[in-house]
Amino acid sequence: MRTEASVAVDTDVVERLIEHVRNDTTDMVDSELHVPISHFVGEERAKAEIALMRRLPLIVGHVSELPRPGDFVTRDLLGVALLISRQEDGSIMTFRNMCKHRGGRVEQKESGHRRIFMCRYHGWSYNSEGGRLRPLPYEDSYGPIDHDCAGLDRIKTEVRHGLIFVDMSNDPDRTVEDYLGPDVDAQIEPWGLERATIFLDKGFDLPINWKLVMDGAIDSLHAQYLHPGPGNVGSRTLTNVAVFRAFGRHGKLFQPRTKLKALVASGEDLGASSKYVASLLMVYPNAMVIGAPDHVEFWTVWPSTTDPSHCSIRIRFLVRPEILSPEMEARINKSWEILSKAATTEDFPMEAWIQQNAQAWPDGTFRYGRNEVSAQHLHHQLARDIDEVA
Ligand code: FES
Ligand SMILES: [Fe+2]
Repeated sequence: MRTEASVAVDTDVVERLIEHVRNDTTDMVDSELHVPISHFVGEERAKAEIALMRRLPLIVGHVSELPRPGDFVTRDLLGVALLISRQEDGSIMTFRNMCKHRGGRVEQKESGHRRIFMCRYHGWSYNSEGGRLRPLPYEDSYGPIDHDCAGLDRIKTEVRHGLIFVDMSNDPDRTVEDYLGPDVDAQIEPWGLERATIFLDKGFDLPINWKLVMDGAIDSLHAQYLHPGPGNVGSRTLTNVAVFRAFGRHGKLFQPRTKLKALVASGEDLGASSKYVASLLMVYPNAMVIGAPDHVEFWTVWPSTTDPSHCSIRIRFLVRPEILSPEMEARINKSWEILSKAATTEDFPMEAWIQQNAQAWPDGTFRYGRNEVSAQHLHHQLARDIDEVA
């Protein structure tokens, strides 16, 4: 992955941000948006959102997690136990982690290397290559079994930009390329994520509806209030100065770093430099990719399938191993320190209080201002996909 400074931000985005900094303005849409508070607590809405997600390609991991044929990881994807396995030809296959006898898990570890997965209930086993059912103990007692058709259930999987997309719709006609569209592809491509490895991988289980976490992460309106103080997030980017570009369902938020304000005030010619621009790409509905100077921060946010007021988050830092030096490692660890402090001591507690308030009195609506373009984009899209299709 190149450093962020060398990843071009469209010239017109930088120019627009500079205009916003000069005029103390931000991108706006035509009207505010009201989202029912019940959408953050209600079981019916939560079920509809999960049903929607189960129809979309979702990012479940990165190729570097299973580098060699036979490597595997297991994942819980919206309540569905998955087994993701690297094949001999380098491709990645996803199986349901479910024995075809009576439903046991065929793999219990989170990750590892295996040629054969075995269900420990009654000993049925499957090749990691293709998921084929192997000869069984007491085979003739099960009636005729066609081993070509009795393997592990497969779920459609595609790798794009090194990210593993699993699509539980199994729709053969929709590719990840179609789903992302050319604009999102063009935004991800320069990071070279397919050559990256995972530097850090952290998970959080939180008493928060997943959308509140997304709202907080794609919000350009809170840094100076919720993250004040020298060195904290609020001192690094400007508040309420942003450009949002919609790319179909997805979108990208651009925010000026604080330094840009001083440079604009000094009258220096900045050209189209993207050096002073922070950006966050939202891959609908629940992933975010954020370019930092020497790594890429990658979030996925997962609703709980049993409780609308809970979610789990996974934050990974991706880096190009060949450019890692001890100094860079120290810098990336420092970035994690700043991010995790802001997230765990400021963002998550605030979002948990919102959740508590929503649950206590789930009437009325939350209001998203004309300047809250990115959150509006997410909620409008969810409404289109859930309410208009229903
Ligand atoms: S459930 Fe797996 S062997 Fe019986
Ligand atoms: Fe924040």
